[in-house]
Amino acid sequence: MSTDAPSSHILWGGRFQSGPDPRFWALNASLPVDQRLALHDVRGTAAWVRAIAAAGVLTPDERDALLAGLERIAAEFRQGTFAFAATDEDIHTAIERRLKELVGEPALKVHTGRSRNDQVVTAFRLWLRDAVDDLDAQVRDLQAALVQRAEADLEVLVPGYTHLQQAQPMLLSHWWLAHFWPLHRDRQRLAQIRQRLNVLPLGSGALAGTTVPVDREALARDLGFEAITPNSWDAVSDRDFAAEFLFWAALLGVHLSRLAEGVILFTSREFGFLTLDDAFSSGSSLLPQKKNPDGFELTRGKSGTLIGALTGLLSTLKALPSAYDKDLQEDKAPVFRAYDDLRALLPVLADSLRTLTVHPERAAAALAPDILATDLADYLVAKGIPFREAHHIVGQVVQRAAAQGVPLTQWSVDDFRAVHPAFDADVHQALDPWAAVARRDVPGGTAPNRVRAQLEQARAALDNPL
Ligand code: ARG
Repeated sequence: MSTDAPSSHILWGGRFQSGPDPRFWALNASLPVDQRLALHDVRGTAAWVRAIAAAGVLTPDERDALLAGLERIAAEFRQGTFAFAATDEDIHTAIERRLKELVGEPALKVHTGRSRNDQVVTAFRLWLRDAVDDLDAQVRDLQAALVQRAEADLEVLVPGYTHLQQAQPMLLSHWWLAHFWPLHRDRQRLAQIRQRLNVLPLGSGALAGTTVPVDREALARDLGFEAITPNSWDAVSDRDFAAEFLFWAALLGVHLSRLAEGVILFTSREFGFLTLDDAFSSGSSLLPQKKNPDGFELTRGKSGTLIGALTGLLSTLKALPSAYDKDLQEDKAPVFRAYDDLRALLPVLADSLRTLTVHPERAAAALAPDILATDLADYLVAKGIPFREAHHIVGQVVQRAAAQGVPLTQWSVDDFRAVHPAFDADVHQALDPWAAVARRDVPGGTAPNRVRAQLEQARAALDNPL
């Protein structure tokens, strides 16, 4: 594609006596970005052709010739044979120019009653609707991978952390599922965004509505939109759907980044609970022993880029005075970029999870001897001691164990009784990590039976995200 300035403007040249400065042309043209809308623009234009034909603007012959031309153009895009011309300012002008080459005279009528303002936002909504459906399937597959992990790792105990300090033991499956539910909410959110996105702006003209008596409801049905916009000015300026999508992408990015950070920690030598498959790791150019979790680090990194895309678009939108201002041409690049980044990340994450190796023995060995301090306090509570007091007594136990360098698990009953007489011969049962997780027997808790129930809920949610 040439970026040279054309000598005449095919779309809006009538008012102009000289051609554009090539530097202005390069700045103004959006073809490098918006050519991705090609097939959706063809679809929108075909629907417009049908609508204005029904309104009497085109004869049936003209309509059929135009539709055949548009079909041919779609085929050229699909086959990669569409040839751009120097006069193509954006994808819309490129398609109209090609239509003229293929069909002749009738192509000059296609834009009757339409503006690029309502045209571009129609194509953009159509494109994003497909992108949203595609991303929903990708997020679903990542959820399926988390469910598979949770099924496989039901017998694995890991330390659970708060403040990145060991807090209480839990099932590794519980942790995988903890990252499933944010994605469930993401899919719910996406379905709601899709509803607001799936509204037809076409028929709004430049800003005030079209003079052609088109049936906008029929147009909406033709394009699979569920409703039509109620105000033409709002219709051409509204980019809420793009901003909502970018917020969705940013929040999904945050969720993915938290999962990634956890996996990165767990694959480090200090934790050592997980090892990534070679297919989803990279090496170091200098350090021969290194196996790096780059996919997860890129996830963490790109989550920052996704947040930037959202703030960038919101800044572009915030003070636009008119229905359409050229600032709006900046709307597509961040949306495409967010889609591309997520489309690249999600399958890699899903299969990285499916193929990683879990090391149950290392996870068990990592459980600190005092990780069951809460259970020891609960044990005293069961013996009739108020919790606050029990908490204090166990604090003394933990402190004495640390001072003596003898882990709690190796303490005798007498050692415990030396701190408080309420400790009994059954104290060691309170210090069994499997017994401890089994006691979290509440809906949403980490007891194995509850995690199994949660797995059932998760499986059901996969196919029923709402
Ligand atoms: N390339 C433009 C965009 O992406 C199309 C709309 C142009 N409209 C206009 N009035 N110049 O926003």
